[in-house]
Formats: sequence, C-alpha cells, structure tokens
Amino acid sequence: MGKTNSALLVVCFSALFISAAQASWFWNDFYAFFGQNNVKFPGPKVGRTVVLSMTNQTGSGFRSYSPYLFGRFSIKIKTMKGYSAGTVTAFHMASNSKNWCELDYEFLGNVTGQPYNLQTNIFVEGIGNREQRINLWFDPSAAYHEYTFLWNQKQVLFLVDTIVIRVFKNQQGLPYLDYQPMFVYGSEWNGDDWATRGGLDKINWAYAPFEASFTAFNIHNSCKVKNPLSLNQLHTCYRKARISTYGQGVNLSLNKKQINDLRWIRQKYLTYDYCIDKARFAGKVPPECRQNWP
Ligand SMILES: *[C@@H]1O[C@H](CO)[C@@H](O)[C@H](O)[C@H]1NC(C)=O
Ligand SMILES: *[C@@H]1O[C@H](CO)[C@@H](O)[C@H](O)[C@H]1NC(C)=O
Ligand SMILES: *[C@@H]1O[C@H](CO)[C@@H](O)[C@H](O)[C@H]1NC(C)=O
Repeated sequence: MGKTNSALLVVCFSALFISAAQASWFWNDFYAFFGQNNVKFPGPKVGRTVVLSMTNQTGSGFRSYSPYLFGRFSIKIKTMKGYSAGTVTAFHMASNSKNWCELDYEFLGNVTGQPYNLQTNIFVEGIGNREQRINLWFDPSAAYHEYTFLWNQKQVLFLVDTIVIRVFKNQQGLPYLDYQPMFVYGSEWNGDDWATRGGLDKINWAYAPFEASFTAFNIHNSCKVKNPLSLNQLHTCYRKARISTYGQGVNLSLNKKQINDLRWIRQKYLTYDYCIDKARFAGKVPPECRQNWP
C-alpha cells in the first residue's frame, strides 16, 4: 500500500473512533451555510445549541464540513411554538453527486393549535418521491426530542427518540444508499407552496422570526470522508463501517421492539405513505414498498 493510501487509512480510522464523542460543539463539525445572519448561538454554553431562524428576508441553515459514510447521526430539535404554517424545519443528509442520495426529516408547520406533521423522504440515485408523513405522539415545539438516522450497509432506520418510525432496506436488485458519503444539514425555510395542507395555509410574516433550536449534535461510529472522490478512501470507510457495531449483528436487521414500533406508528400515526398512493404511481407502487413495513 502506497504512502497516500496509508495516510488516508489513518484519517478514516481515527474518524471512526473520534466520532464516538458525545454531543459535540456545533463548530467541531458544522458551519452556517446560508442565511448566516439568522443563525444564532444562544448561551450560556455558546456552541452547544444553534437556533435557525427565518425572516421575510431569508431562512437559514447549517451543514457539516465533511461528508460521512454510514453511522448514527442524531440531533435534538425543538420547533417553534404557535403559528408555524408554511415553515419547514429540516434535519437531513445528502451527498452532492449528480445522482445523489438523501435522507430527510421535515417538520411541516401548522396554524396555531394544529399539529405539526413530520415528513420523511429518501432519495436514491437522484430520485426521491418516497414521502411518508406522521403525526407525532408529542408536541415537538414543547421540548427537545432526538431525531436519528442509523445507516449501515443493510438498512436505514429513522428514529424519534427510541422509536423507529421508518425503515429503508437494502434489497437485492434495488438501488440503495451506498458508497456515497453524505453531508449532514439542518435548515429552516419557506415551504408554503406545499407544506401545510398542501399549500393552503401560508406563512404569516406577522409571526416572524420563525425559530427552531438544534442541540446535542451526535455523529457516532461514522467514517468522515475527507475526499469523496477517492475510491480508496471510500473502500476504507466501507470496511471500517462493516466492523463497527452498527455494521454488524442485530443492527443489520430490525429487532422485535423495532418491528413493534413500526406497527404502532403505522396504525396510529401515519397520515401519508407514498406506498399506498396508487394514483400517484399509475396503479403500481414502487418495488421497495414490499418491505417498507413489517
Ligand atoms: C420584513 O420585516 C421587517 C421587520 O419586521 C419589516 O420592517 C419589513 O417591512 C418587512 N419587509 C417586507 C418586504 O415585508
Ligand atoms: C395541520 O392541521 C390540519 C388540521 O388539523 C391537518 O389536516 C394537517 O395534516 C396538519 N399538518 C399539515 C402539515 O398540514
Ligand atoms: C448496535 O448499535 C448500538 C449502538 O452502537 C450498539 O450499542 C449495539 O451494541 C449494536 N449491536 C450490535 C449487535 O452490534
């Protein structure tokens, strides 16, 4: 192995273990990438929490410096109270290649007194159209709750606190989120042409600024990729991910509790599922839907 390769290996190796640090400072891994003036760091522990706000001028967002391949990514989020119709508060991951991969959490705001919807979506090879929406069993504006992506070579889990709300499995013959390291993002933006009751309820700027708070940034057992164009580096990360706790054993498939979680969500909280929206797909549901729910 050449000099460059072993250097890269060291980078990935250390990233894998360093990333076990709990609840890091915002600026260790992230920077404000749009609406900088609307990105705030309230005290007393400046840098533990970031508040993204949207004014009539602009929304705002942060992004990780590096992309990551596999791992566990979680952030605690508290959305805004009161009138939030038309606003979208998002925590997502995405690669930046032409046929990109993406995993989304999107809190769709509502008029005062009506509940948020939590929309999730998955893009593989540049194609999304995999929306699911749920009501939450709590008010996401009342307190922080943890939202997690757990991504390994076999499945992606979406967790709200300890509850699995969605799974996307790596199924033979179907595209999967593979070999494309993804950046981690948080954002606050105007989605009032679609977000609330399909765009009927608009943003009311009298309630601006709209602010959501993010804290407890955790990236675990993940491989930070310095150069996503280096195949060597990706292979190394892939190998490291496979031997991490997330890439092995029970974490490769759903356990009993997770199966029960998903059944509970589907029965009680699901408000939209692309897999049962036959009209949208000319009568044929997408092939991955067979394994979307246990
Ligand atoms: C935007 O909001 C500011 C502060 O509330 C206000 O002064 C200004 O008139 C608004 N601009 C527009 C175009 O609505
Ligand atoms: C907002 O509230 C209405 C009325 O309860 C509900 O139909 C809708 O699903 C809620 N959420 C969104 C994002 O529209
Ligand atoms: C699954 O991942 C969690 C989090 O790292 C870990 O605690 C657990 O041991 C893993 N399970 C297996 C069987 O690897």
